[in-house]
Amino acid sequence: MPHFGDFQLEIYLAGVEGRVPPLPMTAEGMEAAAREVLSEEAFGYIAGAAGTESTARANRAAIEQWHIVPRMLRSVVARDLTTEVCGTVLPAPVLLAPIGVLGIAHPEAELAAARAASGVGVPMILSTVSSIPLEQVAAQLAAAGGTGWFQLYWPKDLEVARSLVGRAERAGFGAIVVTLDTWALAWRPRDLRLAYLPMLRGLGIANYLTDPAFRAGLARAPEDDPKSAILHWAATFGNPALSWADIAWLRSQTTLPILVKGVCHPDDARAAVDAGVAGLVVSNHGGRQVDGARPALDCLPDVAAVAAAAGVAVLFDSGIRSGSDVVKAVALGARAVLLGRPYVYGLAVAGAEGVVHVLRSLLGELDLSLALAGHTDLGSLGPEVLVRAPAR
Ligand code: FNR
Repeated sequence: MPHFGDFQLEIYLAGVEGRVPPLPMTAEGMEAAAREVLSEEAFGYIAGAAGTESTARANRAAIEQWHIVPRMLRSVVARDLTTEVCGTVLPAPVLLAPIGVLGIAHPEAELAAARAASGVGVPMILSTVSSIPLEQVAAQLAAAGGTGWFQLYWPKDLEVARSLVGRAERAGFGAIVVTLDTWALAWRPRDLRLAYLPMLRGLGIANYLTDPAFRAGLARAPEDDPKSAILHWAATFGNPALSWADIAWLRSQTTLPILVKGVCHPDDARAAVDAGVAGLVVSNHGGRQVDGARPALDCLPDVAAVAAAAGVAVLFDSGIRSGSDVVKAVALGARAVLLGRPYVYGLAVAGAEGVVHVLRSLLGELDLSLALAGHTDLGSLGPEVLVRAPAR
């Protein structure tokens, strides 16, 4: 049976023929390569975080402070990385995180990401603020044999929320991921310095401009008056009035499972469970919202305990850069992780091929780290396989 780790042998065998991989082998290397090809504005938007960016750094430090304790001689020939989340079967515990406006990274934008993810078998979570309308991305996923979920930024206008969710369901997305932490954009100095918000330049708002409910709120069609459409978007994008009670309304609007993204406190996890969600995503948006917020991994165990008691799935993101990071997140209670910035750097550098490379590298390392640490499946990963690094 083939393993994701076989990618390693493929690379070394090509080396015997004199060929080295055309793309960097680490997330850091891919970030550096992306910086070379992206405009200053686009790179800053993707790499940047809120405020002093302390939470973005702390996300990494929190992951690095956990150490895996490898176990030996445990017969790890047959490995199984599969898992199931809210009715979607995953060949490995990884999904593409919803990342908006991929058109600033590569002209093929979400279509390339969808093709790449499908090729590797990884589901894609499509952002509300995608560069390409959701129906086209759904068609690409279907054509490539992949699966996807739709991430919802819940707008002020309930009719637009209803319409977006209905479109996503009809297009074939398998779940709705409601992002809770971004009803307004945080203070992001890199973007402020360049006065750069792509949506105000008409980028990343394709789902709105094609939405009948959004268009009904405009005096003139966006084709005739793009500026007014953009300003209407800016005025209605986020909904600070939402409360947990609204999740029940959303449940009445769709038969799809609903996950909520941005849960960091166990009481919010309980509220979400009471509201009937099928899954929780522990995340601080990659440090892009509340600077100084607690590192996401530190929030995971308590939220995972609530999720486990309620029988709902818990996912994790914010800081995943390697296969070993995935092992740690799963050991601390995540059913699967969302990969964020690293795949966008791969997209920027080499389009779909770059995303495939990033995913195969991550999954290859995950497979090898899991096996070399003495495990054959995700079920055998628990907190006992980790220790906290001693203070030095
Ligand atoms: C994001 N993220 C995000 N989340 C979301 O729910 N909808 C979105 O449209 C976006 N857009 C977006 C754009 C960019 C450029 C980034 C970097 C991130 C957050 C994303 O889903 C995820 O939570 C973070 O990327 C995780 O952090 P790391 O692993 O990238 O550091």
